[in-house]
Amino acid sequence: MVRLSTIALGLLCGLSNVLGVVADTATLTDPAIDGPVAVGFPTVNITAILAEAENELGVNGTITDNLPDENYGAPGTTITARDLEKLQLRKRTFGRQVCGAIACVSLKLLFPSKTATAGSNNYNQWNNPSFWSATTYMTPTCVFRPTSVEDISLAMKIIMLTQSDFNVVGGGHSAIKGWANTEEGVLIILSGLTGINIKSGYAEVATGERWGKFFTELDKYKLMALGGRMSTVGVPGLILGGGISYLTNQLGFAADQVKNFQVVLANGWVVNANANANADLFRALKGGSSNFGIVTRIDLYTWPCPKGVYSGQLYFSDTRDYPKMFDAVYKYHTSGALTDVQTHLISAFVYAPIPGVGPMHMGAFTAFRNISASETNPGPGPALQEIVDLNPNTKAGSTLQVRPYGTQAIELGAGDVSGLRQDMRDFSVYADNQLYKDLFQIWNTTMIPKHGNKVGFMGTIAFQPITTTAVAAGIARGGNSLGLEGNTKTMAIINLTHQWVSAADDASIIASLDEVLTKSIALAKSRGLYHPYFYLNYARKQDNPIGSYGTASVNRLKAASKFYDPCRAFQCQVPGGFKIPGLSC
Ligand SMILES: Cc1cc2nc3c(=O)[nH]c(=O)nc-3n(C[C@H](O)[C@H](O)[C@H](O)COP(=O)(O)OP(=O)(O)OC[C@H]3O[C@@H](n4cnc5c(N)ncnc54)[C@H](O)[C@@H]3O)c2cc1C
Ligand SMILES: *[C@@H]1O[C@H](CO)[C@@H](O)[C@H](O)[C@H]1NC(C)=O
Ligand SMILES: *[C@@H]1O[C@H](CO)[C@@H](O)[C@H](O)[C@H]1NC(C)=O
Ligand SMILES: *[C@@H]1O[C@H](CO)[C@@H](O)[C@H](O)[C@H]1NC(C)=O
Ligand SMILES: *[C@@H]1O[C@H](CO)[C@@H](O)[C@H](O)[C@H]1NC(C)=O
Ligand SMILES: *[C@@H]1O[C@H](CO)[C@@H](O)[C@H](O)[C@H]1NC(C)=O
Repeated sequence: MVRLSTIALGLLCGLSNVLGVVADTATLTDPAIDGPVAVGFPTVNITAILAEAENELGVNGTITDNLPDENYGAPGTTITARDLEKLQLRKRTFGRQVCGAIACVSLKLLFPSKTATAGSNNYNQWNNPSFWSATTYMTPTCVFRPTSVEDISLAMKIIMLTQSDFNVVGGGHSAIKGWANTEEGVLIILSGLTGINIKSGYAEVATGERWGKFFTELDKYKLMALGGRMSTVGVPGLILGGGISYLTNQLGFAADQVKNFQVVLANGWVVNANANANADLFRALKGGSSNFGIVTRIDLYTWPCPKGVYSGQLYFSDTRDYPKMFDAVYKYHTSGALTDVQTHLISAFVYAPIPGVGPMHMGAFTAFRNISASETNPGPGPALQEIVDLNPNTKAGSTLQVRPYGTQAIELGAGDVSGLRQDMRDFSVYADNQLYKDLFQIWNTTMIPKHGNKVGFMGTIAFQPITTTAVAAGIARGGNSLGLEGNTKTMAIINLTHQWVSAADDASIIASLDEVLTKSIALAKSRGLYHPYFYLNYARKQDNPIGSYGTASVNRLKAASKFYDPCRAFQCQVPGGFKIPGLSC
């Protein structure tokens, strides 16, 4: 059995002499990638590039003195992946600044129009605008904006040889500083890596894309797929952390409906990961985040959507409705979401400034239902009827309608603003009506009196069910990394999202949010309703979501990391991101 599939790179570069380099590693006892690695590109002598970069920086020999032989990097040259380890560069005896500088000057020599250093126009245009939250802005040594998988492959070889720090940003919607960014070294920005191909039963999406464009493309073909519920969010980060979608009750996390990942490994190899090839990497990527490689393309299963969907937003602004709202939400989580799996409900409780009115509480709901083939008079259906009927004024003012699938994500995404200060965090509980009400009040009384009037303050607490049907759908596709297989009843991810304007307010708002989490978790625990899972895509920096997947999953992730990233580039050279616990540098 071949563990690593064809190196697409060799094919793409037309290097016939590297086509045979894939080792049949199933025969190896050492769980590491020992096959020869194609180092050279047709027109690139990496040794010469590194030497030129060193000369430019006045650090002659820093990297080049450590290369295995003088032909290292000649076009078509192969060395074994182990040689990268033999170099022992990963011990990094020279400073991260020097490493980052050599990597950046090398990339600039190789890709003058795709690499930008601090202060240049492209740097200013590419860097901060890639990020959603102002809390995540940093100043990497350079930003690299590839437009092809070959660009990324070559860049990874440079990054590995120089031992530079690096990171990768997709849609930039992580709110944690340094998770998709780096202060030293190379920031790889994926926005130039675009392309959507609709195939039969699935679609290929390049990871520079965002959900809005993908769904708009699907709408043209009357198709639907799992993905983000807001158009503005990036494709890669959401999938690699799980991905809660409008179709989650039926089909699990968005990652569960991936057919194939195309990945650039640390040593520059381009591999596919799917149910047949590199199946351990395939499973690891379904929740394992940025720990294994740079994902360059994701193939997602699609379904027909001939009649569109019935969906829209409802705002409940009468606070007397709150108890009824929670009753209906709880009922949906434990009943409707299971009996009509083609429905979805976003139930967010918001405190937001309303122009001309001032700040106020409201329930902001999005109700969704796929319209079945035989339906003549589409509506919310029994699962969502109670929600929709909660308040006649709300129903009248809603955006509920029959529409193409993708337009709901675009409607929600229209309100998404970049450049504010953002905080996201979450924890999990078992579904419970009284607990939901009490968690809401913890949030309400801890946050609103103290911070409700701060400039630009907006706060949300949302309740997202993860049903047993959703978990079963993941198992049916061979399993993911999230560790939820043992769930026997509905759990809920409680998701807190806050935004404000001034950095001066960061400390006090975050202190209160930490208090909300501490009190909430303590209350859930005291009632025996706490679930230890932290959903990675909304998790707080210190909450170790991958650790929350449980030992069996963590052990699989560790094994996959050791195999596919033997030099631990993604553990050690990527300073931020949720790491796999127990792997040291
Ligand atoms: C407004 C908003 C709406 C949201 N809606 C939903 C929703 O409906 N459902 C849901 O599940 N989540 C949702 N989220 C959470 C969302 O899934 C995460 O914020 C996710 O990280 C976004 O992905 P991104 O590509 O935009 O993020 P980025 O910040 O670019 O990346 C997140 C992480 O993934 C890594 N990464 C990015 N690209 C790659 C790659 N190609 N290969 C390897 N690693 C990579 C980054 O280094 C970083 O560690 C929402 C978030 C926001 C802010
Ligand atoms: C690559 O560059 C190095 C350093 O400049 C040089 O010694 C080597 O001969 C070059 N290899 C080829 C094949 O040009
Ligand atoms: C580095 O080496 C080049 C020759 O390869 C030489 O021209 C240059 O002066 C050297 N620079 C330093 C700082 O030693
Ligand atoms: C949505 O409904 C259509 C019928 O209108 C059906 O063909 C399709 O399979 C449904 N989608 C999913 C994800 O089941
Ligand atoms: C929030 O808490 C305040 C007390 O601080 C209370 O008066 C108000 O009714 C609560 N809001 C809701 C929507 O329950
Ligand atoms: C988390 O909250 C944000 C902001 O309200 C919302 O966009 C997102 O959909 C919520 N996620 C879940 C899982 O409810």
